[in-house]
Amino acid sequence: MALVPAAPLLQKAREGRYAVGAFNCNNLEILQAIIAAAEAEQSPVIIQASQGGLKYAGLEYIAAMVQEAANTATVPVALNLDHGTSFEQAVRCIRAGFTAVMVDGSRLPFAENVELVRCVVDVAHCVGVSVEGELGRIGGKEDDIVVAKEDAFFTDPDEACRFVEATGVDALAVAIGTAHGVYKGEPKLDFARLDKINKKVDVPLVLHGASGLSDESIRQAIQLGITKINIDTEIRQAFAQGVREVLAKNPDEIDPRRILGPARDRMQSVVQGKMRLFGCSRRA
Ligand code: G3H
Ligand code: ZN
Repeated sequence: MALVPAAPLLQKAREGRYAVGAFNCNNLEILQAIIAAAEAEQSPVIIQASQGGLKYAGLEYIAAMVQEAANTATVPVALNLDHGTSFEQAVRCIRAGFTAVMVDGSRLPFAENVELVRCVVDVAHCVGVSVEGELGRIGGKEDDIVVAKEDAFFTDPDEACRFVEATGVDALAVAIGTAHGVYKGEPKLDFARLDKINKKVDVPLVLHGASGLSDESIRQAIQLGITKINIDTEIRQAFAQGVREVLAKNPDEIDPRRILGPARDRMQSVVQGKMRLFGCSRRA
């Protein structure tokens, strides 16, 4: 089927009290692994391209590849811009066929974040594309976007309510103690804050930096309104482990298919595990 927008997938997940996995994709093997996982689990899925992913693979290239994957898939697939940086980039993605865009204005003062996201919503909604905003500042490192610990801050529930009303976003990414990349030590999530945000805000909530969280934390977050969960780092780890293992066993191997194939299998199994944990298996 053709690519679908993210908003209806997330609305359905909210009603069913589960979350849809959003998995970052940088190349063909990652895409194939995510789609194979979604097919095996009969799960809806969001594929997303980060700033680094767009730079590495090319915006139009990613869009064409994911469109083809969706066309031949039997499960609903959405394509999301992850941590979009500007109005112009969001429009370019929409034009290339993305069905969802995240506009990350979390580095901006509140009023400027609202203004940026509202402008994207105005355009995106005209053509049925969903929009995700971010309020608060999620720490850690994702490609070129680095937010130091001292610059990260949590989402304020009252501001979240005003942000959603003023922008008309379809989903809101919240900062409650998660971080991008590999955790050093046990992450401490502010579930009381998440509960407050969920009670004040009427759109699906998004958890970034979800790689490395315990299953229990993920389950609790879903109970408290998290409806979209982003995973990148654990896919990278599975990819790297797969490649390392092949080359350690056979340092003379030069066939890219033999080097990348086992990595693809490992990534698929990580994604399937997440889909089961998120409760989106058999929800296609
Ligand atoms: O936007 C992408 C995700 O938030 C990635 O988080 O580094 O924990 O996988 P992660
Ligand atoms: Zn993120």
